[in-house]
Amino acid sequence: MGERLLAISKRLRANTELNRIADDARAIQTLAGKLLSEFPPGSMQSPTAARPAIWQDWTTFENNVKKLEEEAEKLAKANPADGVALRTQFRNVAFTCDGCHEKFRMPKDKR
Ligand code: HEC
Repeated sequence: MGERLLAISKRLRANTELNRIADDARAIQTLAGKLLSEFPPGSMQSPTAARPAIWQDWTTFENNVKKLEEEAEKLAKANPADGVALRTQFRNVAFTCDGCHEKFRMPKDKR
């Protein structure tokens, strides 16, 4: 997902190949659909940056996944000729990544 998001961000910055953003957004959407199965209960053995909060608050975690699927889909459907819409929706996707990481991923210095 990191690679896909970076690819989108580079295209937006260079203002090129905006019509290819939808593919990356769809890929993020598909990967998000697989996220829940990547975190089976008890998969907290080192090395991991997954916080126990994932399993203590599974509903919120699930909602974060759902939100990412929705925001990625909106980005995939955004008009490639509308740079403002693309940028706004790209930010919504990136905020969704950050929001989940803030709550459920250990900060770098604690890994
Ligand atoms: C539902 C919560 C959630 C969402 C949404 C989410 N992530 Fe994550 N992400 C995590 C968790 C938890 C980890 C830590 C996993 C671990 O270390 O086992 C992680 C780890 C990562 C990593 C490090 C992977 C590695 O190999 O160490 C990257 C890169 C990343 N996420 C990118 C993204 C991007 C980009 C998005 C948005 C498009 C995103 N994530 C959305 C929960 C989420």
